[in-house]
Amino acid sequence: MQNLFRDNKEFEKDALGKIIGELPSWLSGTLVRTGPGKWDLDEEFSMNHFYDGCAMMVRFEFDQKEKCVRARSRFLNSDAYRKCCEQKRPVYTEFGTQAHTDHSRGLISRVFTRIVPSDLTDNEIANIYKINDDEIYMTTESCNIWKIDPNNLDGLLKINLDKKPGVAICCSHPILSEDERVMYNVGTTFLTGMKYHIMRIPIDGKGDKQKSTLENSQIICSFNSSYKGSFSYNHSFAITKNFVIVIEQSLLINGLKLATCTPKGKSLEDCLEWCPDQPSHFHVFDKRSNTMTKHKFETKGFFYFHSINAYEEDDQIVLDILNYDDHGLLETLRMKNLRAGKFETTSKSKPVRYVLPVRDLKLMRKNENLVTIETSQSTAILNDKGIITLEGEQLGPSGSEMPTINPKYVGKPYNFIYASGFLETGYYENAIAKLDIKKNENVIYKHSSTTYPGEGVFIASPNSETEDDGIILTLCLESDLEKNPFLAVLDAKSFKELARVEFDRREVSIPTTIHGLWLPNKDVPVV
Ligand SMILES: [Fe+2]
Repeated sequence: MQNLFRDNKEFEKDALGKIIGELPSWLSGTLVRTGPGKWDLDEEFSMNHFYDGCAMMVRFEFDQKEKCVRARSRFLNSDAYRKCCEQKRPVYTEFGTQAHTDHSRGLISRVFTRIVPSDLTDNEIANIYKINDDEIYMTTESCNIWKIDPNNLDGLLKINLDKKPGVAICCSHPILSEDERVMYNVGTTFLTGMKYHIMRIPIDGKGDKQKSTLENSQIICSFNSSYKGSFSYNHSFAITKNFVIVIEQSLLINGLKLATCTPKGKSLEDCLEWCPDQPSHFHVFDKRSNTMTKHKFETKGFFYFHSINAYEEDDQIVLDILNYDDHGLLETLRMKNLRAGKFETTSKSKPVRYVLPVRDLKLMRKNENLVTIETSQSTAILNDKGIITLEGEQLGPSGSEMPTINPKYVGKPYNFIYASGFLETGYYENAIAKLDIKKNENVIYKHSSTTYPGEGVFIASPNSETEDDGIILTLCLESDLEKNPFLAVLDAKSFKELARVEFDRREVSIPTTIHGLWLPNKDVPVV
């Protein structure tokens, strides 16, 4: 598996895929994915962590007219990448690698005692998302976001959210509320007190090539971190029809350390503080009143990257998260481990359901289970200090990541989770799974012991009426260098393979991507 963590290179031309099986005739569009693709900057210097690799995009274009699938990958032309190419060292602080002196800057500009948020990296390895039909963004946990052209993978515009609306770090997973025609995101600031900010981004139709709708982001609510000098590392959050749920986990970022990481030669990882004795908190924002609710929810401390989904039922929020007992995964993802083939982690992810009663606090009885959803094993108990302590219910087997759902069901009751066993050594090894959370059943797709299916992207069939009426597109990497990587097209209902599209590794370099975005043909803008 260590072969999956080799450096990638760019090729001049598109590669044509070999189609095995039959692609759905309606599957027309482009899958764009991002992840780290290069860690070795010269013979003497390599990045320390998987997340430090230079962001690389790969696009797969399903062309029904020409009856073909094309692939092309490119590095994002970010400032971080440009400097890495020029100076053979990172000059921005990366997750596990410290910033090196930027020799292209004057001496005076190099003498500073703390960073400003705009000095955070723009190495957008973490996610890709769209706003409106034609604004595609790449992001990482930073205030710097790149708008890209999904046709040629050019970086078009760098947006700095520290300027407007004024957040230093943004979650990598903003959430679209299609019914409201807005996108939500959660940001943090740390130079003037540790604060979380809920942002609303109006979706107003067509975008402008020269501008970004992100510049219209508005902070609709701000609140303090539960900790004086630190704040939660937030990769994602959740929404329902009426609420936004901010998850304050037990992996914290020390604000002072972050502010001084670059001059002190520290990486972002050096600023993290794992506090398992501290509870994890859920903060709930009520969209109707534009205020935080007064409910104080706590549960046993956990580490997490991804919320799965949330919805409301009988005055309760049902919140599903993929969480871990500790943050050992971050250690596993150090390049020295991955390239040595050491993938064991200290804890496996678990899909866990929490139920948050959000009815009037005055109507809640103390010291008894407030969860009234009959099918749920989760509990919520209000104690004498006014804190509602939650116990979660595990929804399926441990050991999967990159959970996705049918995007139409975001914030609504749902039944199916798709999750990848990438990097796993247990039940999900070499597999991608479909979890039926009502029946507590799962089915997996596995190709071979050298094949690593990644995140599953759900694409609904035209006029689909049921939640799993569609396909799952998953990029399957091959650790056997004699074999080629491929895109698997799975029937989301049966989870059987409908087709496979193989790409010759001598014609295109396909990086180990993290997340991807499907753009149906109408959404691929002509730039
Ligand atoms: Fe993510």
